[in-house]
Amino acid sequence: MNSPRTAPPGPAIRPRRLRRTPALRRMVAQTRLHPAELVLPMFIREGITEPAPIASMPGVVQHTPDSLRVAATEAVAAGVGGLMLFGVPTHRDPVGSGATDPAGVLNVALASLKAELGDATVLMADLCLDEFTDHGHCGVLTPAGTVDNDATLLRYAEMAIAQATAGADLLGPSGMMDGQVAAVRAALDDENLIDTGIFAYSAKYASSFYGPFREAVDSTLTGDRRSYQQDPANRTESRREVALDIAEGADLVMVKPAMSYLDVLADTAATATVPVAAYQVSGEYAMIEAAVANGWIDRDRAIMETVTSIRRAGAQIVLTYWATELARNLTVAG
Ligand code: PBG
Repeated sequence: MNSPRTAPPGPAIRPRRLRRTPALRRMVAQTRLHPAELVLPMFIREGITEPAPIASMPGVVQHTPDSLRVAATEAVAAGVGGLMLFGVPTHRDPVGSGATDPAGVLNVALASLKAELGDATVLMADLCLDEFTDHGHCGVLTPAGTVDNDATLLRYAEMAIAQATAGADLLGPSGMMDGQVAAVRAALDDENLIDTGIFAYSAKYASSFYGPFREAVDSTLTGDRRSYQQDPANRTESRREVALDIAEGADLVMVKPAMSYLDVLADTAATATVPVAAYQVSGEYAMIEAAVANGWIDRDRAIMETVTSIRRAGAQIVLTYWATELARNLTVAG
């Protein structure tokens, strides 16, 4: 005789209970985004009278001085935590003279935003020579054509003084030269610029995801940066880079890019004794915008999910080209 079929006993433990309603999900969410943790990277280009769109980064432009002021003011009004500026000069030379010239495009923009916004935001500058050199490398070259680490440090020291004097609150050395944080700190301290901080690009990889950025800064680089930026195959050396930068005086550290380096970010968050940031770079932005343009992905959800996952992995601060838009949406959503 067959006994009647009964449903098998269900599981007693049901994690789905906490996912049932939006209110339950909201209450148990472990990661929340706040506008103040977002940093907006911005490009200022010399010699243009209208903002210039960047084709591979739909919605991002190279700014004129006026459009930069407007966009910066909007970002601050939206609650964005800070602004990271990049300069695109008209004239380039082997040593990147425009980077240290007080009349150079980036230094003038810093001074103008400082005058406009004062201490209402955190004003930051990318401290690197690649936008200013005619060969497009992040440092000066030896006669043989390799990047000369120690000669580059002297240029970074001068650049640090120029940017701090122009009004930057934090400087972002991003060239991956050995000793760059110590060189920048020493130069600032020598000039008694003791309140200017260092937001170090500490774990920075030689990444294909910087592709659209090359368009954004009209890069002249031929070749690659693999002799100074990190090999994507390596995880442990990021611990070394981060520890060195903190020992040399970094006030904040950054992992870059973000999405392919969440393991590195988690390592950094577990050990760093200073705030940790991650940079959702141009290629990460471009991939999502391209998929959206094809109707392949939900834009708002993709933006939210990627930035949330970067925060979840350990970044307290996220640099993202969507900062203003995201800050506005977060404010509306409460
Ligand atoms: C170096 C610098 C780069 C980026 C930020 N700082 C380019 C590079 O290292 O090749 C890339 C940012 C992005 O892709 O959004 N000045």
